[in-house]
Amino acid sequence: MSWRTALTSQARVTHRTLQVASHLSASPARHSNPSSPVTSPPPSPRLSATMSSSAGSAGFKQEPHKLLVIPGPIEVSDDVLWANAHPSVSHVSPDFVPILGDSIRMLRQVLFAPESQPVITAGSGTLGWDHVAANVAQPGEDVLVLNSGYFGDSFAECFETYGAKVTQLKAPIGSKPALSDVEAALKSKKYSVVTFTHVDTSTGVLSDAKGLGELVKRVSPESILVLDGVCSVGSEEIRMQDWGIDVVLTASQKGLGCPPGLMVLAASKKAIAKFEKRASPPNSYFASWAKWLPVMKAYESGTGAYFGTPPTNLIYALNASLQAITKGSVSLEDRFAAHKATSAKVKNFVQSLGLEQLVADGIKDGANGMTAVKYPQGIKAGDLLPKMVAKNIVIAAGLHKEVKDTYFRIGHMGVTVVDPSRGDIDHLLKSLKESLSEAGYKGN
Ligand SMILES: Cc1ncc(COP(=O)(O)O)c(C=O)c1O
Repeated sequence: MSWRTALTSQARVTHRTLQVASHLSASPARHSNPSSPVTSPPPSPRLSATMSSSAGSAGFKQEPHKLLVIPGPIEVSDDVLWANAHPSVSHVSPDFVPILGDSIRMLRQVLFAPESQPVITAGSGTLGWDHVAANVAQPGEDVLVLNSGYFGDSFAECFETYGAKVTQLKAPIGSKPALSDVEAALKSKKYSVVTFTHVDTSTGVLSDAKGLGELVKRVSPESILVLDGVCSVGSEEIRMQDWGIDVVLTASQKGLGCPPGLMVLAASKKAIAKFEKRASPPNSYFASWAKWLPVMKAYESGTGAYFGTPPTNLIYALNASLQAITKGSVSLEDRFAAHKATSAKVKNFVQSLGLEQLVADGIKDGANGMTAVKYPQGIKAGDLLPKMVAKNIVIAAGLHKEVKDTYFRIGHMGVTVVDPSRGDIDHLLKSLKESLSEAGYKGN
């Protein structure tokens, strides 16, 4: 029996067992359970101040808090937080199964990837790297990592952990490898996997996902092209299928507008075919596609299956956020356009203050969901960030290890961008100008 046959039959048994279990564990209707932490007196102090006793997100408003405008985690809408406060349900109950099943379907829409297979589990973006390294790459295979900052180094380290042979094509800080250099690298050696960071969160560089897709298709069509979309899914346009991207991996806490805690990915048929041809089983247990693919298919077909308990509440939150993204008042196209417009506004504003960005031409080459800004001469993190916090705004320090003390980062993703009635961006920009001035910056 091959490793595949053994694992598939094991998944089927588990699946059948849980179909029976799901009939035994129908969960209560939402908020009708008298023991629900949301409806039973006394409610938690965090919720009690701002939630009417009538159920429904219309009655829920999160407590006043500091505006979180780092490049993830980001601000989460009241609707999504309310969904996260769902009473506990069985992960295989008929109530919960379609919540995950529909999330899988909506993710395909967000990524324009109708034929892809999504996988959504507990975890974070880092676990997405493990999924790729353990299922798509095989030990000893050559992998090309296109490095535009901190996260390329880490993805490379992850591949090495699983035994792949990694070559990195590194760009100077604030830029990405040129397509011509990538082409030369692809012509010099056969790479089974090629990865790039769509938005490097340490630098704010935006990679050319479409251009890389075309290039790999033309020069190295057998290679699996992987897009690290932890800082781009939801805020940047990604046409996974048309552009020839084979795996998109991300996490819940950035453009998808949820609390942290989910690993989210989608794999093309080509990526799954490569996985199925592996000579040896995936060299991870929790990240094994042999385990997860049957489970995802079962949820989508309407029956529960089990391999590792899903974080049910977070999946309610993800479902609410994906509904807003795919069916809300702002279309997907308008969402991308809003991120572009906000990004241009932020970048033009910092430029008007006389500040430089890590990406020299941020509007042309930078991310639309974040901006990395150099401190002016004589000003350090300790001079600026606490002054922003005093105005109830949290921005982030630098991250790229070679230059981290020379710049700060602003996130502009999700509800902060698509709901201008919140006034977040204007509040942010006004506070930035005031804080710089308080720190002694004279500006333009
Ligand atoms: C581009 C990128 N990749 C991967 C990661 C790792 O994701 P996580 O922190 O969710 O594990 C991050 C985190 O910020 C990221 O920005």
